[in-house]
Amino acid sequence: MNNPNLREEVDMRRTFAIISHPDAGKTTITEQLLLFGGAIRQAGTVKGKKTGNFAKSDWMEIEKQRGISVTSSVMQFDYDGKRVNILDTPGHEDFSEDTYRTLMAVDSAVMVIDSAKGIEAQTKKLFQVVKKRGIPIFTFINKLDRDGREPLELLEELEELLDIESYPMNWPIGMGKGLEGLYDIYNNRVELYRPDNYGGERFVPLDDAGDIPENHPLKGNSLFSDVQEEVELLKEAGDSFNRKKIARGDQTPVFFGSALTNFGVQTFLETFLEFAPSPYGHKTIDGQEVSPYEQDFSGFVFKIQANMNPAHRDRIAFVRICSGTFERGMDVFLERTGKKMKLANVTQFMADTRENIQEAVAGDIIGVYDTGNYQIGDTIYEGKLKVAYEELPSFTPELFMKVQAKNVMKQKSFHKGIYQLVQEGAIQLYKTYLTEEYIIGAVGQLQFEVFQYRMQNEYNAEVIMTPMGHKIARWIDPKDLDEKMSSSRNILARDRFDQPLFLFENQFAMRWFSDKYPNVELKSLM
Ligand code: G4P
Repeated sequence: MNNPNLREEVDMRRTFAIISHPDAGKTTITEQLLLFGGAIRQAGTVKGKKTGNFAKSDWMEIEKQRGISVTSSVMQFDYDGKRVNILDTPGHEDFSEDTYRTLMAVDSAVMVIDSAKGIEAQTKKLFQVVKKRGIPIFTFINKLDRDGREPLELLEELEELLDIESYPMNWPIGMGKGLEGLYDIYNNRVELYRPDNYGGERFVPLDDAGDIPENHPLKGNSLFSDVQEEVELLKEAGDSFNRKKIARGDQTPVFFGSALTNFGVQTFLETFLEFAPSPYGHKTIDGQEVSPYEQDFSGFVFKIQANMNPAHRDRIAFVRICSGTFERGMDVFLERTGKKMKLANVTQFMADTRENIQEAVAGDIIGVYDTGNYQIGDTIYEGKLKVAYEELPSFTPELFMKVQAKNVMKQKSFHKGIYQLVQEGAIQLYKTYLTEEYIIGAVGQLQFEVFQYRMQNEYNAEVIMTPMGHKIARWIDPKDLDEKMSSSRNILARDRFDQPLFLFENQFAMRWFSDKYPNVELKSLM
């Protein structure tokens, strides 16, 4: 479709994910952002799933049946002339490959850290995926209204554990009960936590020397003077602000704040929107790059959400638009099969009523109702564009289960189900080398639950699953393979492409193997 405003519309898009360890405050900050964007009217709408705009959407129904969050998968709102798309990346037990793949569909990421806890396990895992993509990463250190760790110590930990430079955009003035405000380095002003103690205004502009103006009640405040010195030191000794490094994901701008008390969040949002990139070009399998301003529509499927309602077999394929404009009812081609598809039944994720149909362009996410045509990683395109986007990476599973059909008479549906779900990317499948037992692998427990549920409900195949726990999966070159390498501390298997791999009991078993076979290279997926 020819859209004369395409460039302008693409340039106003900001599509990002918020990553964090559970409880760092991702939901709280997301809610604040939605409130600023006018997408929700009261806090608690996302988390508490109380009344609100979300309730009006059909997603609520699906969510109720599944009992896990679907509504919050994609949230869109307008702020300050920008159209913001936030993609949810669940932590906890919801954790799955979906979470990782979602990070393939964003242009930047925000990492939320609890100021009392610092870098936690899940943040680190998600960060590594984002880092590999080389996209900008912004950091929000949360819960400043509580006593946390020293800001400097937090930055040091961040740099050390995540191997990234940090640049503080602001610096806390006090903390917990003693929190007075933020020294907003980037905007050269102070943002007061308790404006009423200092004349009522939230922002105090600083002079050119970074000083409080004469006759302001904050003048002479010793806490502020200490922070001023600290900031001077940071400016001298720390890394300087570097836009290029930020764009590559080699430096992260760090913001402190408190999501719960809505302190520092709006400044964060405004600064973030200033620096976060608009959609970039996407690479195709043959190394070309498709510009988001290309008029023909194209996109790729990064997630398939099964509708767990047994009465409907439909699913929703989440498509990241990479170029052009989506129009309801348009015809596209599914690259893998060459089949022509009509995009008739499509959801656009406005956190608003469904009737409020907005146009979708490169950078946006659409949800295509699917009756089984799409697979994860599929490209769809309009007209003559004929592109195939790069394959989405597979992630090394960490959890494994042995799986078999409960009813031996139902082998056929068991196999059909398992192969379809594997193709869809819901789960990874392996077979033990000699005995050909089925093993499924996942990065998160939720994947197993969804697998079991769908096998039963969609394929009428009850499965027996035997947990094998954590294993370390490593692939080897088939030419190195010797069946004698298999021992009691590892399991030799092959993946669905017939490639050999070992499932090691633990690090120790893997090291033992490497010592014994120093010439055999052990490879992981992403
Ligand atoms: P998550 O999505 O990252 O898992 O975190 P979520 O926002 O649900 O926040 C986890 C807990 O931390 C919540 O408390 C929330 O209220 C609290 N929290 C978030 N931001 C801040 C902050 O800036 N300061 C303080 N002091 N607390 C914060 P909860 O008791 O687990 O839940 P709730 O009953 O309050 O909803």
